[in-house]
Amino acid sequence: MDTTSPLGVFDSGVGGLSVLRALRAELPHEDVIYLADQAHVPYGSRSLEEVRAFSGEITRFLIARGAKLIAVACNTASAAALHWLRQRYPEIPFVGMEPAVKPAAETTRSGVVGVLATPATFQGELYASVVERFARGVTVLQATCPGLVGQIEAGELDSERTRRILERALEPMLERGVDTLVMGCTHFPFAIPAIQRIAGSGVRVIDPAPAVARQAGRLLAARGLLNPSGAPGAVGFYTSGESSQLEALLPRLLGEPHPVESVAWQGNALRISST
Ligand code: DGL
Repeated sequence: MDTTSPLGVFDSGVGGLSVLRALRAELPHEDVIYLADQAHVPYGSRSLEEVRAFSGEITRFLIARGAKLIAVACNTASAAALHWLRQRYPEIPFVGMEPAVKPAAETTRSGVVGVLATPATFQGELYASVVERFARGVTVLQATCPGLVGQIEAGELDSERTRRILERALEPMLERGVDTLVMGCTHFPFAIPAIQRIAGSGVRVIDPAPAVARQAGRLLAARGLLNPSGAPGAVGFYTSGESSQLEALLPRLLGEPHPVESVAWQGNALRISST
């Protein structure tokens, strides 16, 4: 691994693209490899043990392709595996996602904040620990938005069904005076325009991706691993799902087209697909 090695980024699907776009804005000279585990999406209704096993193998796959830093661009995988991955690969810097309860609690005026995340994220110790550490004196409401990850995977960022899912989650929160909403799942920032329309402009929506990208930059700088090249970095995409489906969505979610390579799970191992 050296300064020209890529960053490795993964998620259950397209959610991590909300982190990838922040990484590319913050670190435009870095190459990136992105893996979407769409064979297993959604992660959020699976057990933490199962998500940890997927995350371990995906991390191995990315490190085998030279990744110099791993961004666990998925709150569910971070809840299930971040601590364990850091112990398993002490030589690799990791950044992960944790619900941004701290900035929400620091800036709320109503004293009521809402977190949108998957059931698995709410079950993890990481979530319990951020609430315990940062939410003193603040009411934290939670919603899992069932079906929303699937809608984003289907590119339905603002369809009627997507709006209904969001209304069901947000209306009870708004009735209780929520003035800050934390995106605790990396898929959800793609629905921010729809969320903002329902919640109104007085509600602050926090996407933690820019802060995570800045943290990735700090870790690379501290280890002397920033790419010194002035040229724009390249991004390579892999999916364990349908490559043509992800290729079709990338222009909408990232604003540019990219080819996508297929990978396949063979038992517990990920392999480049021959087809
Ligand atoms: N994007 C992921 C997260 O941040 C996972 C969503 C899912 O696959 O359920 O939690």
